[in-house]
Amino acid sequence: MNVVQHQFDLTALNTLALYSQTSDYVRIDAIDQIEDVVQYAKQHQLNIFILSGGSNVLLPEKFQSLTVHMLNQGKEIVSEDDDFVVIKVQAGEIWHDFVCDCCAKGYHGLENLALIPGRVGAAPIQNIGAYGVEAGEFIEHIWAYDLQQQQHVNFTADQCQFAYRDSIFKQQAGRYLIYALSFRLRKQADLKLNYADVAKRVGDTPTAEKLLNTIVKIRSEKLPQPALYPNAGSFFKNPILSALEFTTFIQKHPNAPHYLQADGSVKVAAGWLIDQAGWKGKKLGQVGMFERQALVLVNYGQANLQDVQRTYQTIQTEIFQKFAIVLQPEPVQINRSGQIQPYVMI
Ligand code: EPU
Repeated sequence: MNVVQHQFDLTALNTLALYSQTSDYVRIDAIDQIEDVVQYAKQHQLNIFILSGGSNVLLPEKFQSLTVHMLNQGKEIVSEDDDFVVIKVQAGEIWHDFVCDCCAKGYHGLENLALIPGRVGAAPIQNIGAYGVEAGEFIEHIWAYDLQQQQHVNFTADQCQFAYRDSIFKQQAGRYLIYALSFRLRKQADLKLNYADVAKRVGDTPTAEKLLNTIVKIRSEKLPQPALYPNAGSFFKNPILSALEFTTFIQKHPNAPHYLQADGSVKVAAGWLIDQAGWKGKKLGQVGMFERQALVLVNYGQANLQDVQRTYQTIQTEIFQKFAIVLQPEPVQINRSGQIQPYVMI
């Protein structure tokens, strides 16, 4: 096991750049270190907080916890036939690099998910998605350590309960330490061009490479780079309204972008709601919503968790007053004991 470091600064390890210090920190670069790490946490009576790319977390200024940083690397082909390849990848690989590498090798499916920040191990937790594709569609298998039962467990895709920004790993937050996963990818690209903007910009002779480059361009134009504008991607989930709620909503706001779901419910664009409420490019203190995409909350200074909470709770209240819709944050919030803190709904 690697050396445990104390009072370790995580400011550079979360993309919102919130000032944060964990009492104990250890990096994992091989799976056989997990049992020792779990043992250490037990001996020192610490909760384990699993850190991946830090692109979807809200960290408190100081917390008492063993922060386990998943940095294990490696990729291997598990099986292959004429049409498909199954690749096993370790959790610590950088997501975007993995997507580019697969595409370059002629293994397709993940192109629409290019440039999503973070590491591979975090992808299944909130089932990352963009431009009509979700990671869960390609995941075949997940290897994890159950911190509650203290044993290794495997999940098939069906057992992961993937849904919009959701999975069993998000539902039972903090229980499973994911250390590897496998993706089943196509050798013949089946390009997903159902987003009008993507289809238009990829051109008349689309290829997987062109699609990937188009996604990179679109994201770079709309979404702020964390190095320049610290952020955690979309800050709120797009709310899902029942058919009845939607009927009332759309009568009052006929121009609202929305997407009908298979079960009859309707997803509404949170970015539009925030924009309409006047929050696009608006700040409260050092924290505000990005001027080119109202769904992205940015730390414009040296904000801490309280500053972020003040801004997002103000927005939640205003959206509720204007639209009678409750916006739910997407990032996971950590408390002073390193545990996942459920959101208190307004
Ligand atoms: N909109 C506005 N004003 C804004 C932002 C958006 O009016 O400031 C409108 C747009 O015009 C559009 C609609 O809202 O009609 C939806 O916007 P967009 O297509 O940009 O997507 P999104 O719903 O804001 C979702 C994901 C993104 C993903 C994109 C593309 C969520 C919470 N977010 O954003 O994911 O990249 O679709 O598929 O589902 C992330 O989760 O971090 C993320 C960036």
